[in-house]
Amino acid sequence: MKNYVWQDEDAEAVDRTIMDFMAGEDVILDRELFIFDIRATAAHVRGLARIGILSEAEVEQLCVLLDRLQEEFIAGSFILDERFEDGHSAIEMFLTEHAGASGAKVHTGRSRNDQVAVATRLYLKDCLEKLAGLNGLIARSCLDQAERNADLPMPGYTHLQRAVPSSVGLWLGGFAEAFTDNFVLAVNMLELIDCSPLGTAAGYGVNLPLDRDGVARDLGFNRLQVNPMYAQNSRGKFEVMALQAALHAMQDVRRLCWDLSLFATSEFDFIELPEQYTTGSSIMPNKSNPDVVELLRGRAATLEGAVVEIQAVLSLPSGYQRDLQLTKAPLIRGMGAALQALAIMPALVRGIQFREENMRQAISVEMFATDVAQEAAAKGMPFRQAYLEAKRNLEGVPVPDAEESLANRVSPGACGNLLLDRIRLRLEQQTQLAGNERQDD
Ligand code: ARG
Repeated sequence: MKNYVWQDEDAEAVDRTIMDFMAGEDVILDRELFIFDIRATAAHVRGLARIGILSEAEVEQLCVLLDRLQEEFIAGSFILDERFEDGHSAIEMFLTEHAGASGAKVHTGRSRNDQVAVATRLYLKDCLEKLAGLNGLIARSCLDQAERNADLPMPGYTHLQRAVPSSVGLWLGGFAEAFTDNFVLAVNMLELIDCSPLGTAAGYGVNLPLDRDGVARDLGFNRLQVNPMYAQNSRGKFEVMALQAALHAMQDVRRLCWDLSLFATSEFDFIELPEQYTTGSSIMPNKSNPDVVELLRGRAATLEGAVVEIQAVLSLPSGYQRDLQLTKAPLIRGMGAALQALAIMPALVRGIQFREENMRQAISVEMFATDVAQEAAAKGMPFRQAYLEAKRNLEGVPVPDAEESLANRVSPGACGNLLLDRIRLRLEQQTQLAGNERQDD
């Protein structure tokens, strides 16, 4: 078999070392993009028929073959491996092998440059849809726990030092709002990258009246990416933006998991993690370690690394450069890691058990000093004077009561006025808005 679609029949066999260097990992990564590449090829084929390059019979035959390729790939009987230069060539070779000349027409008006761009774009859209969905689920699980334990007192910290009485509702309500933002961010990113690069060929268009708009609609894109050079110049840029949307979610996961690991220590002992999220030690019989939470916390590093790696590749001139292939590995690794980690979160959050007594006991008397100062200020004493008086009498607060302190903290968003319903309303509205926009497509 000749190795490359672009070779003559009588071409010299390509040196394996060089071939492996160029394609090795890439063709394996293309397994992630293959289904999207097949879908885009079918749409391209239908588009070619609309401008008279392929007959209806040819389209029918090619689309049946593309379905078959997809089925065989999913079933594992068609293996995309280093026999091929990349997934794009594998599709063309399969079609040519089974449909002869009709298969050999498929690449009319198309380059692997727009082919990889459209397959990656569809993959990115799929990832961002999943990312948005997971962010929504995490926001909901945080909200549910926050509502269920809205008034459960826990110490509030600044600088990791005891500060003022707080509540589980305030702590987890914050993460509910964060993941609502992360949901909106994923949806906005999706909207931005929802444009079809297919039909831009190598980056300069072709001398054919391609039905680019029709093909874009067929593939479910919102609009065209108009400029052929930008279709190439945005490669890597869109990957970074999508990864950054995932990174923001992972940074919030990191912070929440930091809190969980801290609160699960014997020193704090505020929460108990469900057993299946902990592991034992191979040597210390007494240990129960929060490994899952720690791995979730560490995962943001994979995303940060992926963003940096792609940005380092992107120091390039205009147009397609083979360097761009190197954006694929960090993209797939980063997205895979984020989606896998985020999927663990909703059940983990739902499973947190609170040790009420320990949380109450950790609210010590001096933590009410801010309340005392504010109260005196509300009665007319200049705040600075009230502050100094409270400071002089830190231990002398009359029978402090955490519930009362929380109930009196009525400034909007605070423990006595959490406004969790506002966070939920925004989440529902944004979810609905995103759903409507996708339906309008
Ligand atoms: N594997 C290549 C990539 O990801 C496919 C495009 C190849 N195009 C080319 N002109 N050699 O960029």
